[in-house]
Amino acid sequence: MDRKPVIVVHGGAWAIPDYLAESSTNGVKGAACCGFSILAQGGSSMHAVEAAVRVLEDDKAFDAGHGAVLNADGNVELDAIIMDGKNLAVGAVSCIKNIANPITFARSVLEKTPHAMLTGEGANAFAEKMNIPRVSTDELVTDHSIKEWEEYQKYTQSVTNLFNSEKVHDTVGAVAIDSDGNVSCATSTGGITNKMVGRVGDSPIIGSGGYADNFVGAVSTTGHGESIMKVTLARLVLLHMEQGKSPRDASDQALDYMKNKVHGRGGLIAVSKTGEWAARFTTQRMAWAGIDGEMLYYGLNPGEQFQESLHNAI
Ligand code: GLY
Repeated sequence: MDRKPVIVVHGGAWAIPDYLAESSTNGVKGAACCGFSILAQGGSSMHAVEAAVRVLEDDKAFDAGHGAVLNADGNVELDAIIMDGKNLAVGAVSCIKNIANPITFARSVLEKTPHAMLTGEGANAFAEKMNIPRVSTDELVTDHSIKEWEEYQKYTQSVTNLFNSEKVHDTVGAVAIDSDGNVSCATSTGGITNKMVGRVGDSPIIGSGGYADNFVGAVSTTGHGESIMKVTLARLVLLHMEQGKSPRDASDQALDYMKNKVHGRGGLIAVSKTGEWAARFTTQRMAWAGIDGEMLYYGLNPGEQFQESLHNAI
């Protein structure tokens, strides 16, 4: 098969403050270009989504790897998933500490264990065995995440609505289809500010934070994790696509369902088995970028879509 490759990335659906707007937009554009350069050379969608998410994990503007938010104890606990639509192979990690690139570690779980997800101490012990580099928590923490955490310490623990607000910072992800027609997804996050120690969100949960199946397409989600899990958002989008909806209509229908049924907001990126794609959200903002053919598309605010020639972007 010689299919036109496509990649789409997101930097999280939330109320991105103006001072992070430019760095968020530049970050997703850079990540999309990095992933697409792999696809353009005939590389796999798995390789492309991992590389794109690593760029976002290394960028302090985003809540994943460097820049991750802090839990109630002021610590960093990270979740990630990567999935291969060719054979539904999946690797996920949750509640891991001191790892700068959880997405690469999730891929090690996929490739080097008989399991689909490792969590907590056991996961960190396996990371050491795999020689995944250990970084100090201080290296992952930013001034922004400390400030946000200090703000949240002012509130009590009965903050369901606060967690389901758009201020809590959220997640990165990528979906891609390669020239062989294989689709993949990758999602990585620090979760939500002031979450309970041990809380696991939607991101590493198969069918919630992401899903990929060559039969339909691939999805990576972002937003209020407890709501996303309740509606298995990624799989719900693919269900609508399976039933004939475009990625855009399927995404809107699933996000509306989440909003109406469980009062949850979020966003997602989707690519179909034919290379159609969408970036949709019900939050104030979501930084996203996609490369399709010779064009780079990107946006931040609802209804916004800019485009430029890929040639100018690189
Ligand atoms: N969507 C990220 C989280 O809720 O953990």
